[in-house]
Amino acid sequence: MSEIQPLLLRAARGESVERPPVWMMRQAGRYMKVYRDLRDQHQSFRERSENPDLSYEISMQPFEAFEPDGVILFSDILTPLPGMGIDFDIVESKGPLINEPIRNLQQVEALRPLEPKESMGFVGEVLTRLRESVGNKATVLGFVGAPWTLAAYVVEGKSSKNYAVIKAMAFKEPTLLHSLLDHFAESIANYLRYQIDSGAQVVQMFDSWAGQLSPIDYDTFAAPYQKKVIDLVKQTHPDTPMILYISGSAGVLERMGKTGIDIVSLDWTVDMADGCSRLPKDIGVQGNVDPGLLFGDPEAIRSRIVDTVLKAKGRKHILNLGHGILPGTPEANAQVFFETGKAINDYINR
Ligand code: CP3
Repeated sequence: MSEIQPLLLRAARGESVERPPVWMMRQAGRYMKVYRDLRDQHQSFRERSENPDLSYEISMQPFEAFEPDGVILFSDILTPLPGMGIDFDIVESKGPLINEPIRNLQQVEALRPLEPKESMGFVGEVLTRLRESVGNKATVLGFVGAPWTLAAYVVEGKSSKNYAVIKAMAFKEPTLLHSLLDHFAESIANYLRYQIDSGAQVVQMFDSWAGQLSPIDYDTFAAPYQKKVIDLVKQTHPDTPMILYISGSAGVLERMGKTGIDIVSLDWTVDMADGCSRLPKDIGVQGNVDPGLLFGDPEAIRSRIVDTVLKAKGRKHILNLGHGILPGTPEANAQVFFETGKAINDYINR
């Protein structure tokens, strides 16, 4: 393998690079025909994400189709839950389901600390194989869900519109919720360390539903646990760049910048220039093209990418969507996104 580190890793570390690296959240999945075909053969999401041969194959599908600069492990934020004693399933058209939602102290006290080597060896195996396969042609990304977002799933028991059950817990039994969040923070930090030791070069923490909190509650229930995960990982793995994503983060951007994170992943409801001006210079940005643009025509996609890249100029920037690519997106438009990102200097100099 050559000495040169892959582009996304160099950019994430803040080195000056020839262009912003490009990848997509949810880049493996239902919009790809090869994925849908494999899903017909292996209908359980748990099997697709926990059988190392399948998880490896799916992780590589977008790399083989588009050669993005990042290859993300095919898994889910809920995958570590069984290792802590919480069973779940992902049901087509319903989303995640927790068989026995966590609602009381006995349940929280019965949770096991995650031992990733024992319960999640398949993840380590996939990350190691991904690194061997992509070499320095791409950066291997690991990821986790942040404590608040994991708690939202296990307390609600499923995807939620208004988060009434976990908010009842937050505002009636805060001590109970804090012990659950703390348990997740410790376990998730260990899980990230394991992913990095197994081959992940950059890691992203998804606190997708932290944007559902008022800023004052974000400061109580989300930010301290994001920070705990980041601090614990940085203690042992200070050189691994960490990215933080929240959906609907416009009200808490400055707060995200104070968690110790290296890169803030912006959704598309914030203008890239405004997002940059609201974060300290040394913090990088990722994003933030509206996933809906990929239903538009190639010209619209290209011009939005150029706009985004120009607005982030002078900053550490990783080109991405503002949230995961949507099912039903034409694959040809995903191709336009990646190709434009990789040839961005030609488009800008035109
Ligand atoms: O980015 C990638 O390609 C890696 C794969 C990945 C998945 N889930 C695979 C998946 C990642 C990074 C996730 C993270 C995840 N999972 C998040 C955070 C990111 C975000 O979108 O905010 C969240 C909130 C979840 C929980 C979850 N899992 C949801 C809401 C769903 C969708 C339910 C649905 O049916 O739309 C899942 C299932 C899931 N995870 C799918 C995929 C590809 C779709 C189901 C399938 O392919 O059968």
